[in-house]
Amino acid sequence: MRSVGIVGTGSYLPDKVLSNADLAKFVDTNDEWIASRTGIRQRHIAEKDMPTSELCYQAGLRALEDAQIVPEEIDLIIVATMTPDYAFPATACLVADRLGAKNAAAFDLEAACSGFIFALATASQFVATGMYKTVLVIGGEVLSKILNWEDRSTCILFGDGAGAAVLQAVKEGFGFLSFELGADGSGGKLLSQPAGGSKCPASLETVGKNLHTLQMEGREVYKFAVRIMGDVSVKVLEKAGIKKEDVDLFLPHQANTRIIDAAVKRLGISPDKVVVNLDKYGNMSAASIPVALDEAVKARRITEGDTIVMVGFGAGLTWGACVLKWTKVGLKV
Ligand code: ACO
Repeated sequence: MRSVGIVGTGSYLPDKVLSNADLAKFVDTNDEWIASRTGIRQRHIAEKDMPTSELCYQAGLRALEDAQIVPEEIDLIIVATMTPDYAFPATACLVADRLGAKNAAAFDLEAACSGFIFALATASQFVATGMYKTVLVIGGEVLSKILNWEDRSTCILFGDGAGAAVLQAVKEGFGFLSFELGADGSGGKLLSQPAGGSKCPASLETVGKNLHTLQMEGREVYKFAVRIMGDVSVKVLEKAGIKKEDVDLFLPHQANTRIIDAAVKRLGISPDKVVVNLDKYGNMSAASIPVALDEAVKARRITEGDTIVMVGFGAGLTWGACVLKWTKVGLKV
């Protein structure tokens, strides 16, 4: 089996910014409540005519440039999203077409906010076995289009964006050292978009009842998140044989600073080793981790040989984490 790593990253945020103060103009909330309960100050919102595939295309293009790879070299594109352009065709196919990735297979993967980690784990198997040389993994969401903008308990939390990573074989001892994935469907109702699927097809009634928008039992998700973020981080480090003192950067899913603080405390990692950007972007579901990764790489917070931990949780319920020894030098074998 080959070692597999990330040899290029990219991200894209739509231009329009919605601050907490802007939100307070049309929903009963305020900056103080949102910032103190969540850490969020603003979020980026896609224009009406901008679907998830557009954000993913832009992020993917930047990741390819960063990896110095042409679209024809991509063997597979995986898009992690819970806000696809359509139920079908897959958003990944649309992105492949926009990129001109003529030699790539393409499919979507849905594990909500854990989606990018699940997609990395999936993609890395193809490269590790030698089936594919180059895989483009993208986490992208336009959550603003499935929110109920009259529900202050959910609409304040989320934002739009996309982040991407190019995976290739890397030298031994580098790249992904371990993955830990999990799911518990008994918690499915805690966070869902109830209508529009085969269980509850779209009808005038479902639209009237706002059932195509994101519904969440915030307190229950919060309790689950605090427990699972710590547990899965401990497990994935054990699996990799890495001590917490040897972690250079911790990249958690960006849902709530209080959830991140609890996980960091549990792990006993110094706060200066933790990436937090949810103040600027809110929770972008599958896009949160890859956007944070791209920013950390571009800001030189990650350099050759660093050990990083990425961990996510989300609807499903799902959770996932990985340990990665960083190198951007792909072997192209
Ligand atoms: N502005 C002002 N007041 C508000 C707002 C708001 N935006 N939202 C709720 N409130 C009020 C409530 O009505 C309630 O008032 P009451 O006490 O008079 O009834 C009070 O504030 C407290 O509400 P809670 O829901 O108990 O607030 P809590 O401290 O639990 O914070 C929050 C809510 C931020 C949603 C928190 O529960 C949370 O972060 N949960 C996790 C959410 C999460 O991570 N989701 C993403 C999962 S990832 C994925 O797959 C998409």
